[in-house]
Amino acid sequence: MPFKTLDDADLKGKRALVRVDLNVPMEDGKVTDDTRLRAAKPTVDKLRAGGAKVILLAHFDRPKGKVVPSMSLKPVVEPLSKVLGVPVAFAPDCVGQKARDAVAAMQPGDVLLLENVRFHEGEEANDRKFADALAANGDLYVNDAFSAAHRAHASTEALAHRLPAYAGEQMRLELDALDRALGRPERPVLGIVGGSKVSTKLDLLKHLVTKLDKLAIGGGMANTFLYAQGHDVGSSYCEKDLAETAREIIRIAGQNNCKLFLPLDIVVAEKLAPGAPARVRHVGSIDDEERILDAGPETVERLCRAMDNSKTLIWNGPLGVFEMPPFDKGTMDAARHAAKLAKDGKLVAVAGGGDTVAALNAAGVTDDFTFVSTAGGAFLEWMEGKTLPGVAALQNQG
Ligand code: 3PG
Repeated sequence: MPFKTLDDADLKGKRALVRVDLNVPMEDGKVTDDTRLRAAKPTVDKLRAGGAKVILLAHFDRPKGKVVPSMSLKPVVEPLSKVLGVPVAFAPDCVGQKARDAVAAMQPGDVLLLENVRFHEGEEANDRKFADALAANGDLYVNDAFSAAHRAHASTEALAHRLPAYAGEQMRLELDALDRALGRPERPVLGIVGGSKVSTKLDLLKHLVTKLDKLAIGGGMANTFLYAQGHDVGSSYCEKDLAETAREIIRIAGQNNCKLFLPLDIVVAEKLAPGAPARVRHVGSIDDEERILDAGPETVERLCRAMDNSKTLIWNGPLGVFEMPPFDKGTMDAARHAAKLAKDGKLVAVAGGGDTVAALNAAGVTDDFTFVSTAGGAFLEWMEGKTLPGVAALQNQG
């Protein structure tokens, strides 16, 4: 590991400022998915066991430097406390007197959550003074928020330069898994990239075709590739203006010996509605009013065989409209097959990104994957080969 971890830290009696990602889905003030809360537990446990005072820093939503009461972290306190199995105190500001008083009242082993760091403009501006104000409440800094590490913000970047900085346990797990999947993977390595838009994943596709042995393209973005190859896509979602870009990606893949898998067959319907009558068609044979909504059985079968013949899989983006049966079948069948191979120890299967995780959860296979990232944007940027400022700041500490 090119950075310090908690195993290197002297924790006893220290005030540990820990950046976690508590940006959890919430409905009517209730947390609807506690994955990120659970992800924070190993680091908190380790710090408490070492006798540190645990001061949690986090953002919630995008209040843009203003106090927005509906974006308070207060509703997270109770579910977090439940997940951690300890009382969690709360301070209504992350800097200033209120934060100072709350920190001063702590004993070793206590856990305190400070209010949303994004209530201050200095956070997103990566402002030095704001970082100094945050640093005033700690003796050491732990970044455990891989999923926010693509942001160069005060609590993810500048703070790492102000205090002895360490990678937390979740950060370590995420980086290890990504390294296994894309940094130094066991080959052959297969990628699956899906989702609706090529335009949001151009950098990703261009990077992956230089890294992977095989890449399957699915979801709405596959339509753009099919169109670029001269196939009729009927009324399907398709970014026709990106046809030349799609052809360029196909060329780069060829130059780098990356085998591209585009759909062989497709599931089409005239309407995107739950239970809408669906038909399987070969690529190109589609009526004007039909839309491509999922990968066909032959395509999924070929993808499963490609998994059988690979040692590593990295997956971002669904193969079809997985939220709406029957158009979830391609994604579900592929997810179950990958999970079985991973469970049997035959495939290192790593996945990430909001939709992908939701699809794996829906398929009930998340636990069987080798690793499922808690990150959305950060996972994508890492897969694009970009440097994540939050990770770089830890590395520069040596
Ligand atoms: C996320 O939910 O992906 C992270 O918490 C980052 O949130 P952001 O996109 O608002 O920076």
